[in-house]
Amino acid sequence: MPKIYGAEVVGLGKSLPSKCLTNQDLEKMIDTNDEWIQSRTGIKQRYIMGEGEALSDLCVNAAKQALEQAKLDVDDIDLIICGTFSADYRLPSLAALVQDKLGAKNTGAFDINAACTGFIYTLVTGAQFIRSGTSKNVLVIGADCCSSQIDWEDRSTCVLFGDGASALVLRRNEDPNVGVQSSYFGSDGGGKESLWIEAGGSLMPITKEVLQEKKHRVSMTGKDVFKFAINALTTSAKIVLKQEGLEASDIKLLVPHQANSRIINGAAKRLDFNKEQIYINIDRYGNTVAASVGLALRDSYDEGLMKSGDKILIIGFGAGLSWGGTVINWSID
Ligand SMILES: CC(C)(COP(=O)(O)OP(=O)(O)OC[C@H]1O[C@@H](n2cnc3c(N)ncnc32)[C@H](O)[C@@H]1OP(=O)(O)O)[C@@H](O)C(=O)NCCC(=O)NCCS
Repeated sequence: MPKIYGAEVVGLGKSLPSKCLTNQDLEKMIDTNDEWIQSRTGIKQRYIMGEGEALSDLCVNAAKQALEQAKLDVDDIDLIICGTFSADYRLPSLAALVQDKLGAKNTGAFDINAACTGFIYTLVTGAQFIRSGTSKNVLVIGADCCSSQIDWEDRSTCVLFGDGASALVLRRNEDPNVGVQSSYFGSDGGGKESLWIEAGGSLMPITKEVLQEKKHRVSMTGKDVFKFAINALTTSAKIVLKQEGLEASDIKLLVPHQANSRIINGAAKRLDFNKEQIYINIDRYGNTVAASVGLALRDSYDEGLMKSGDKILIIGFGAGLSWGGTVINWSID
């Protein structure tokens, strides 16, 4: 049997744009109010990109923090993977821009688009490169610039999303029981229309009509996504826990994708997790799509909520439809 290595989490980083947009700011822009947004979603504010800011720059800031914590030089990185649906350009990848801006000389780089499940898909993919022995140090990034993709006149979507980037460094460890453990991915492209951007791809290029009808912007059927989301989180957690032979009580912290505090609490209730086990920071950032789980990992770590030896369960869902999860055997204090 070939040797399996551990994909140890050794560094975390985050970066947010300079402009903070509160619910009160949104009240001045569209027909909404703080009470509606907070009671339906748990969101109080989000950060959005200002003029001259690039998503790749946020990624580089987050990556530098993660590398510093990992005590690794940029040239130690042999793979960069970015989870994103809103890279600086349609071509080339965000990961290629990050490689260049970091000055990383010894690395491959590519993007993964799994929307809001992007951080989990990207982390698990990076871990596979390490567990198989292909890579030694992988830089995993989740980043999105939602403010450039949403319709700012559609109150049912624009209040939900924010921009940001998170980074995580995985390092090869001789012990396969350290770091990212077994995982689960789900996909149902049949549900694509419940959360999508119809135009701008190869099937419907941008035209004058497309722009008029705003088909190049995010469109969502909120109620359908809500129902799907609770099931997706619950299924992902149950499958990963079963694979690992764990109960909810074995998990120190459940770090879910941050789309809506009602969705998170609904799933946690079905899974018998208690309040202290669940991490929620959506109030600060809104739904940052592929960045969200990485931002939540960084913040919960900074708040002292995990220590070496803890088991961390991460689960997510998003457009695709997509969903999934994994367990991390935490090893940094
Ligand atoms: C979007 C969401 C918060 C809406 O909550 P909801 O309780 O389903 O609300 P409804 O859609 O029933 O809308 C209720 C009313 O609020 C109104 N409304 C919608 N957005 C509003 C806003 N920002 N401010 C004020 N009112 C709003 C609707 O127009 C509707 O009014 P009506 O009853 O007069 O037609 C909820 O469906 C949701 O979170 N879905 C999942 C979305 C998600 O997580 N997407 C990302 C996945 S990764």
